[in-house]
Amino acid sequence: MRRPRAAGGRLCIGLMSGTSLDGVDAVLAQFTGKRARVLSSSHVAFGARLRRELFFLNTPGKNEIHRAALAGNALARHYAAAVRKLLVASGTRAAAIAAIGCHGQTIRHRPELGYTTQIGNPAMLAELTGIPVVADFRSRDVAAGGQGAPLAPALHAAIFLSRGEDRAILNLGGIANLTLLRRGRRVLGFDSGPGNCLLDLWAARHLRRPHDAGGRWANSGEPDARLLARLLREPYFPARPPKSTGRDLFNAAWLERALRGRAGLRARDVQATLLDLTARTVAEALRRHGRGVKRVIACGGGVHNRALMRRLARLIAPAQLESSARHGIDPQLVEATAFAWLAQRTLAGAPGNLPAVTGARGPRVLGAVYPA
Ligand SMILES: Nc1ncnc2c1ncn2[C@@H]1O[C@H](COP(=O)(O)OP(=O)(O)O)[C@@H](O)[C@H]1O
Ligand SMILES: [Mg+2]
Repeated sequence: MRRPRAAGGRLCIGLMSGTSLDGVDAVLAQFTGKRARVLSSSHVAFGARLRRELFFLNTPGKNEIHRAALAGNALARHYAAAVRKLLVASGTRAAAIAAIGCHGQTIRHRPELGYTTQIGNPAMLAELTGIPVVADFRSRDVAAGGQGAPLAPALHAAIFLSRGEDRAILNLGGIANLTLLRRGRRVLGFDSGPGNCLLDLWAARHLRRPHDAGGRWANSGEPDARLLARLLREPYFPARPPKSTGRDLFNAAWLERALRGRAGLRARDVQATLLDLTARTVAEALRRHGRGVKRVIACGGGVHNRALMRRLARLIAPAQLESSARHGIDPQLVEATAFAWLAQRTLAGAPGNLPAVTGARGPRVLGAVYPA
């Protein structure tokens, strides 16, 4: 077996399963000082049944405590499978890994009520892998008065901050979030609104596919100005950061309210409108909070939606839009790397949140540790 490449720094695994409910992205990363290097990655997709169950758990329903516990166990098994794939692919022993940073699956995010809930049974994950697990990263920030989100901006700053220009990092997951890295200013970050979640929902309903590949279906329709105006009336969009959101707000019921009385609209025109909604709310957030930004570095699965990327590029010009791949990091792996990084911070007793981003009263060591 190859020697684990731990000599130069700590090896941590990051596991991210986001609001898209598509599956888990895993990375094995090495941290030396401020540098992060991804050594290996894996993805384990959720089956249709688990995906349905997670959808169900995102809105109030019957018997949810029991169902959440079982879904948590199923998630832990998927997470463990992703970890096994990483270890095999990289020829690394479990004992060489300092920790797994496991985001878990958000099923409710209500910081305004003082809680956020991610499931994934970290105790079981520690049992299945024999590796210490750090989980529940968001609760401590919420307890300190913050949004508990977004947490990736600290890593975005560590990787992408440039002395030469003002930049923004845009994560196009189920929800879209922006990190603003401007020279001489505090890092800012917040959720701008929906990323892919409404596009996925509409594609599942009308194409019977988990997403609109490349945004081609959206591209075959025409945005509807009246529907767009209605969607844009949502008070979340102009609200000032710190702010974060999820399926608690941007869900099927939210979309259906806006569609009321518009039964005649073609499904593809609705899809084109939803694509426009994501692009416009991101562009508007950038205009309000990111003046001077010259480059927007995109990550998350939405980077593969070419129609969305084209629309966004037009709206934010003359700022440049490009994939994080241009900067040496696969767009699908940025968020998972953030949770490997956060786990390593927790082990070191170092804070992981940025109070200016989340609104917390101060920096906090995040997460709970489940020893191997
Ligand atoms: N080829 C593609 N075309 C369009 N959309 C895509 C494509 N590949 C991935 N996506 C979108 O990316 C999403 C997954 O992105 P991800 O970054 O994993 O989000 P999350 O963190 O919310 O899970 C999918 O649900 C889908 O909407
Ligand atoms: Mg995902």
